[in-house]
Amino acid sequence: MKFIILTDTHFVARNRKIYGLDPAERLAAAINRINLDHPDIAFVIVTGDLAHWGEDPAYENLSMELKRLVAPTILLMGNHDKRDAFSRHFPDVPRDANGFVQSVQVFDAATVVTLDTLNEAAPDHAGLLCEARLAFLEHALMSAPADRPLLLFQHHPPFDSGLRYMDTIRLANPEAEWDVIARTRLPDYLFMGHLHRPIAGVWRGIPFHIQRALAHQVAFDLVTAGHIPGSHEAPEYAHVTVNGGHIVIHHCAFLYDGPIFSLQDQAALNQA
Ligand SMILES: [Fe+2]
Repeated sequence: MKFIILTDTHFVARNRKIYGLDPAERLAAAINRINLDHPDIAFVIVTGDLAHWGEDPAYENLSMELKRLVAPTILLMGNHDKRDAFSRHFPDVPRDANGFVQSVQVFDAATVVTLDTLNEAAPDHAGLLCEARLAFLEHALMSAPADRPLLLFQHHPPFDSGLRYMDTIRLANPEAEWDVIARTRLPDYLFMGHLHRPIAGVWRGIPFHIQRALAHQVAFDLVTAGHIPGSHEAPEYAHVTVNGGHIVIHHCAFLYDGPIFSLQDQAALNQA
């Protein structure tokens, strides 16, 4: 199975910019590339912060843009999202019995579990898995088929990354999530958004993946603590292949428009 990950699209109303960038223009470029180069993907998953202010025109803009995508989508909530406005423009995206935007989807190659870590009541942008969402996770981990990998997606990381301000707005209750995982099943891979940077590692035995945002980025700065340093580094989508226990993740800087050449080409090699 192959799929694409996009994250932190931070959509705003049509023709508006955010931090000098137009998210719709960027998503259009990503979709052009995905439709052309990856006709064999099972889905495109967007791991939260779909809209920056969570207003209706932003979701309307996103909904219009995503209609051009050939592959189906799986959408998650991030700290910038608003569930009710989102649902008005994405009425077909399932919400669980408690109204959270989370799901379990079983594919031949893997089970995809998505969590909703949005805490709309929080004064800051930290994430939360309340009792109802922890119960959903527990049921998902216990009932997923044991004969294929389980891929867990959530917006907020449950651990510190070293990005100091971002660490103050990670998942607020990581121990509660870990307790559920420890007594049920370790996901084979954990995919997140929120940090707007490419970061990989292992959390308590679970390999994890975080990637660049579609919109603005967070700068590589492990010192600044009082605010979030931003940057205009190029956006990327991830291309994931799952084949049994073998998982490979590529990053595509889809806005790159420079030369593509053969490394075996002597002329290219000796170019002044
Ligand atoms: Fe974000």
